[in-house]
Amino acid sequence: MSGKAYAVVVGGASGIGATIVRAMVERGYAVVVADRNIDAANALVAQLGDGGHTAVEVDVADEATVAKLFESSTELPGRFEVAVNCAGITALGLVTELPVAKFRRVVDVCLAGAFLVIQHAGRHLVDGGTVISLSSLNARQPAVGMSAYASAKAGLSMLTQVAALELAPRIRVNAVAPGLVRTPLTSGALGVPGVEDEYVENIPMGRPGTPEEIADAVLYLAGAQWITGEVLDLNGGAHLMRYPNVHAHFEQSAAARTR
Ligand SMILES: NC(=O)c1ccc[n+]([C@@H]2O[C@H](COP(=O)([O-])OP(=O)(O)OC[C@H]3O[C@@H](n4cnc5c(N)ncnc54)[C@H](O)[C@@H]3O)[C@@H](O)[C@H]2O)c1
Repeated sequence: MSGKAYAVVVGGASGIGATIVRAMVERGYAVVVADRNIDAANALVAQLGDGGHTAVEVDVADEATVAKLFESSTELPGRFEVAVNCAGITALGLVTELPVAKFRRVVDVCLAGAFLVIQHAGRHLVDGGTVISLSSLNARQPAVGMSAYASAKAGLSMLTQVAALELAPRIRVNAVAPGLVRTPLTSGALGVPGVEDEYVENIPMGRPGTPEEIADAVLYLAGAQWITGEVLDLNGGAHLMRYPNVHAHFEQSAAARTR
């Protein structure tokens, strides 16, 4: 097969994913922006200009849509070389209080969803292709109130390693594990007094990361032919410190509102 190199970015319509999409376009890839939010995906593709970029609606918690997305990659007028999985959600609540339905939903999107992306992308990527997932600092660092997200991301980091073993030498499978980055996912928590300060106190480099810094690492892994099964920490050294107690700040803020 000849023609352009294609990248499929799942969860590519917002935040880190949208920045990865732009970075891949700059690097010369044609990009399929796949997201549950098709309006946002279409709006992003409209900004990308010519180059064969498209938007596709997908819900990683719905296997049929994931299967269809990657089956249609066989019709792309080029080589399907890179799949990036950025779809993610979170839920806050203590283990003794969080409804299991919320726990399951986070695991369904962040872990089982990533499994489906790796599975179906793995069947259709060209030889030499690669899958890169968005894990998290929470894969290795526990956080009060974040059992669902941290458990799912820890699972995703191990899934990355297992899939790398199984898919080598045909396909490389890696992940990046960012610390705090300002995006729509984190804007709610960062609006709570005290949260951002406690994050920054626990980042030796003294600031959050930027979506561009995460996109740089994804592009590095996309081209790093001898790296597979790696979960690359990108957190300004925060893994050397402790995770902020975001839940406590939410509780204090709620208590202050009722006084
Ligand atoms: N922002 C951070 O500080 C941070 C830190 C570590 C890891 N991450 C991870 O990076 C990834 C991107 O996060 P972000 O901060 O850019 O968030 P975001 O909310 O801006 O983007 C997430 C995207 O995923 C899409 N999505 C959510 N559920 C989906 C589903 N079921 N199917 C398909 N698409 C779905 C959303 O529509 C959105 O476009 C996530 O996996 C997140 O867990 C983020």
